[in-house]
Amino acid sequence: MNVSGKKAIVFGGTSGIGLATAKQLAALGATVVATSRNPEKIGEAPEGVTVAKCDVRDTAALEELFAEHAPFDILVSAATGGDRAFGPFLEMDMDGFKSSFDKLWGYANVVRFGSQHMADGGAIVLVSGSPARKSKPGQSAISSVGGAVEAMVRAIAPEIAPLRINVVSPGQIDTPMVALKGNEREELYRKMTENHVIPRAGRAEEVAQGIMFAIQNDFVTGTTIDVDGGWLLS
Ligand SMILES: NC(=O)c1ccc[n+]([C@@H]2O[C@H](COP(=O)([O-])OP(=O)(O)OC[C@H]3O[C@@H](n4cnc5c(N)ncnc54)[C@H](OP(=O)(O)O)[C@@H]3O)[C@@H](O)[C@H]2O)c1
Repeated sequence: MNVSGKKAIVFGGTSGIGLATAKQLAALGATVVATSRNPEKIGEAPEGVTVAKCDVRDTAALEELFAEHAPFDILVSAATGGDRAFGPFLEMDMDGFKSSFDKLWGYANVVRFGSQHMADGGAIVLVSGSPARKSKPGQSAISSVGGAVEAMVRAIAPEIAPLRINVVSPGQIDTPMVALKGNEREELYRKMTENHVIPRAGRAEEVAQGIMFAIQNDFVTGTTIDVDGGWLLS
C-alpha cells in the first residue's frame, strides 16, 4: 500500500508507539486521526494528525468515530486498554488479571466495528508484546493477553480477507508507559535489557517501522512481526 493520500485511524495514537506510527503515516502523506481516552495530553498535534477522544472499550463511541471517518484505509491499535497486573500468578489479584484483558477486548472492538467501514485494500495492525511467547517472572497476565491477541489475529485474518490484519510484537521499548525519569529510568531499562541480544531499550520509532511494514506490504497477513532486540532469544 502506498499510504500517501490514505486515511488512517490510530488508537493509542497520542503516546509512545501509537504516536510514532501516527507521525510516520503523516510524514508519508496519510491523513491521520489519533485517538485515546485523554488526547489533550498530546499537546500540539503533529502536522497531518488530528486527535479525537475515544475509549476502545466504549462501543457506542467507536461506532460514532468510525461512521464519522468512513471509509478509511488503515486501522492501527496500540491502546493498552486498561490497568495491567504484574507479579506472581498465584498471588495475583484476579480483578487485575481480568482487567489486563481490556487490551484484547479493545482490539476485538476496533476490528469488529472498524473493519465494516474500511475501504478495499485496507490494512489493520495491532500490537502485542514479547511476553506473549517468552514470559519473564511476573508477566503471566500480559503474556496471556499477548498470546490471545496473536491467536485472535491468526484466526480472523482469513475471515476478514481481503482486508489484511497483522500484529507487531515489541520487546522492551522506551515510552511514556514507564513514568520514571533521569537516572532511575536509565537504570531500569539497563537492567531489563542487559541480557538481550541487543542490550538496550528500543525506540517507539523502531516499532512504528514494523507497523509501517505491515501496512505497506500487501502480501503479509495473519502474522506477528517481532521488533524486540532479540528478546525471544535471550
Ligand atoms: N513500551 C513497551 O515496552 C511495550 C512492550 C510490549 C508491548 N507494548 C504494547 O505496545 C502498545 C503501546 O504501548 P506504549 O509503550 O506506546 O504505551 P503508552 O505510551 O502508554 O501509550 C498507550 C496509548 O494507549 C492509549 N490508551 C490506553 N488505554 C486506552 C483505551 N482504553 N482507549 C483508548 N486509548 C487507550 C493511551 O492514551 P490514554 O491514556 O489517553 O487513553 C496512549 O495513547 C501497548 O499495547 C503495549 O502493551 C509496549
